[in-house]
Amino acid sequence: MLAKDYQFIREIVYKNSRINLGEDKQELVSARLGKRLRATGKASISDYCELLRTPAGAEELGNLIDVISTNHTYFFREEGHFTALKEIILPDLARRRQKEGWPTLRVWSAASSSGEEVYSVAIALDEYFNAHPPAWPRQFEATDISTRILAKAKAGIYPAETVSRMPAATAKAYFQTGFGEQAGLHRVKAAIRDTVRFSQLNLLEGQPPFTEPFQIIFCRNVMIYFDRATQEELINRLKARLVPGGYLLVGHSESLTGINHGLKLIRAATYQKPLA
Ligand SMILES: C[S@@+](CC[C@H](N)C(=O)[O-])C[C@H]1O[C@@H](n2cnc3c(N)ncnc32)[C@H](O)[C@@H]1O
Repeated sequence: MLAKDYQFIREIVYKNSRINLGEDKQELVSARLGKRLRATGKASISDYCELLRTPAGAEELGNLIDVISTNHTYFFREEGHFTALKEIILPDLARRRQKEGWPTLRVWSAASSSGEEVYSVAIALDEYFNAHPPAWPRQFEATDISTRILAKAKAGIYPAETVSRMPAATAKAYFQTGFGEQAGLHRVKAAIRDTVRFSQLNLLEGQPPFTEPFQIIFCRNVMIYFDRATQEELINRLKARLVPGGYLLVGHSESLTGINHGLKLIRAATYQKPLA
């Protein structure tokens, strides 16, 4: 890929998603663009850049961001967060529930990718409240910049390997097993799927389609693609969406050191907004 083309791709990706592609990502980007070249019938990356510069390019932009962003995720990723939920976060929120007058427990998966994160949290919360009554109605918002990945998330259908890694009792309680043409596939049961709303959202632009604050926000493994200034902007945007004393969980490899956020670190990659 020509240096000027890489520069153009970097700029357009940054402008539209804030994903900060480093100098070292040229090869990776080149490989990922192959798919878009084939889909658009362009013979070279330079031709593809030309397309992006035309009015028709606006439509292609979403597909470009889609192939550039990494959607890798899996069920019950970063076990420490699920332990923190059970040991600290849920007991604390349940204790404060009455006093704060919270009718529903609201959770946001801010870069949900194909849905494994939000469904894992929904399952973990269901298991927790089954074991620790009283029940507490829950509502999950899940957002991502990619509409393609959101369609997958909404369907909630996953191959057998993903489900086989979780305890058999959890898989049995929360997934339907496919048969016939669906053999080998597992679908999150409707009782869980129906508590989740998926919406397209660029975390750094515009307003999400909800206004009520959250007790818990998961924003994991997306900040690694942003520069420090963007990370700080994002953390403060998320903080504004938390109730006082609400929790923000970031990826374990995403340090908030050097970021001005005013949150309290309570466990690895687990932060709490100060009480009012
Ligand atoms: C690696 S996945 C993380 C999935 C999940 N949170 C986890 O930790 O397993 C990163 C996701 O961030 C999304 N993403 C990238 N830039 C974004 C932006 N500016 N706004 C919203 N989502 C974005 C990508 O589409 C991708 O699905």
